[in-house]
Formats: sequence, C-alpha cells, structure tokens
Amino acid sequence: MSVTDRDRTATRLLRSSAEHSYDPAIEIDWEAPFVDGKYFVPVHRSSLYGTALWDRLTEEQRIELTKHEVASIAGLGVWFETILMQLLIRGYFKQDPTAPHAQYALTEIGDECRHSVMFGKMIARLGTPVYRPHGIDELLGQWIAHTATGPRMFAAILIAEEILDTLQREAMADESVQPLVRMVSRIHVVEEARHVRFAREELARQIRRAGKSRLAFDKLVIGRAAYLTGTRLIDPRVYRAVGIDPEEGRRAARANPHHRETMRWAGERIVTYLSELDLIGGGPAKSLWKASGLLPR
Ligand SMILES: [Fe+2]
Ligand SMILES: [Fe+2]
Repeated sequence: MSVTDRDRTATRLLRSSAEHSYDPAIEIDWEAPFVDGKYFVPVHRSSLYGTALWDRLTEEQRIELTKHEVASIAGLGVWFETILMQLLIRGYFKQDPTAPHAQYALTEIGDECRHSVMFGKMIARLGTPVYRPHGIDELLGQWIAHTATGPRMFAAILIAEEILDTLQREAMADESVQPLVRMVSRIHVVEEARHVRFAREELARQIRRAGKSRLAFDKLVIGRAAYLTGTRLIDPRVYRAVGIDPEEGRRAARANPHHRETMRWAGERIVTYLSELDLIGGGPAKSLWKASGLLPR
C-alpha cells in the first residue's frame, strides 16, 4: 500500500471518529440498578456452562460467575488498551503531525482513553476484584509496551481487539444480558471497528517492510500474545466468587467442550486473517497457538 492509500484510510477513519464517538460518562446511566435474573455474559459463553461444576451452582451463583467473567474480560481489555496507548503515542512521536495517519493514531488513543475509563467504571460498578494479567504475563506486557513496533505490535493488539469484538457483538444483541454490559459492548464495538481496520492495514504494510529474521522473532511474540489472551481472558481467580477453587475451575473450563468452542469461535476471525498473512508460524510459535485454544480443531 502506498502512503497515499494509508492516508486515505486514515482520513476516512478520522471522519468516522468525528461522527461516531461516544462519551461513556454521558451515554451510560451508571446509577441504574442491575436487572434481576439477567446474566453478565450470554449464559452459553460462561466458561463453566454445561459442566458438572455448573450443575452444582444455584441460578444466583451462575449469574454471579458471569459477573466476574465479564469483569475479567474488561480487566484484560484495559490492560491491552494501556499497552496500545503507549505504543501508539511512541509511534506518533516520530511522525509528521500534519499527516492524517499520525492524526488518526492520536484519535485512536483518545478512543482507548475513554474505553479504559468506561471499563474501569464498569468493573467498579460490578464490585468485583480487578482481574488482570500477573506474574510472567505482566512482565511480558511491560516488555511489549516498551519495545513493540511493526508486525508484532499490530498483530498482538489485533488478537485482543478482534476477540473482544466478537464476544461483544454477541453480548450487545442478547436480551438476557444486563443492560449495562450491552451498552458498554455497543459503544466499544462501534469504535473498535475503526481500530481493527487501521491495525489490519498497518499490519499488512509493516509485514511487507519486515525482513525474514525479524518476522520469525515476531511470530514467536505473536504466538505468546495469543496464548496469553486465550488463557487469561477468563482469569481462574473468578471461580473463587462462587466457592470453586481457581485451579479446579480452570481445569474444568479447559476441558469444557462449550468453552473450547467459544474460544475457537472468538478466535476464528483473527486466526483466519493472521493465517492469510502467514503469521501463525511453525515450531514453538505454533505450540503457543495450539495451547491458546484459539485454533480450529
Ligand atoms: Fe478499546
Ligand atoms: Fe481498540
């Protein structure tokens, strides 16, 4: 893609941003009570749905579990957004501020600022712990936030954005889901469509510029990002909220055919796109992808 194409896309995305951007502080009624009997994620997407552990839970506990699951997804969302904002601002620092693609990068940071406030407010309203990657995953996140450029930067971000987008498109349309979650999902889906477009084009452009050894290393980082997203979307600590040991819950979810199908379904779009770009590499990268649970059977 030529520089002109890049700026043509950015110009279109800037126009869309001006027309369709939402302030969650105004758009969302944060004081509204939760609706009795409604779940916080579509019930068939709960990680324990259909398992023996699920059968032992009361309906109230099932709803409570979905509350912690949506908090976990939002916590991972904030975490990835905070990494993305750092990467975008660092990239912008070197750009010509009059160029539309540079201005779009800055506009996207603005979107992500509002999203992270929105997710943070939602987690506070849910009253759950803040679930976010810790240990080695946290260190990897810090490393990516400080060093990622090019293919690995945009591929890692796309994995998180596209998976979240698939889950939220379903949640926003599901009437058995709490209105707060549906509204947060709707705002995020509208604005993320632009980010996905931008990242997909940037990724394809950066790959054409990258050398072979650079790509081999990036594929490994991308595989690790896929593994992190696949295994940390539902933080095992959520199971504590319904009296289930985190390790027991994690094992049950990993063996649960419904949950495995959910992860494959959520990963389908990004897996297809990265495969087309030949970014799902062989060797250790492929093992990470397999362990992520996102690949088709
Ligand atoms: Fe976002
Ligand atoms: Fe985004």
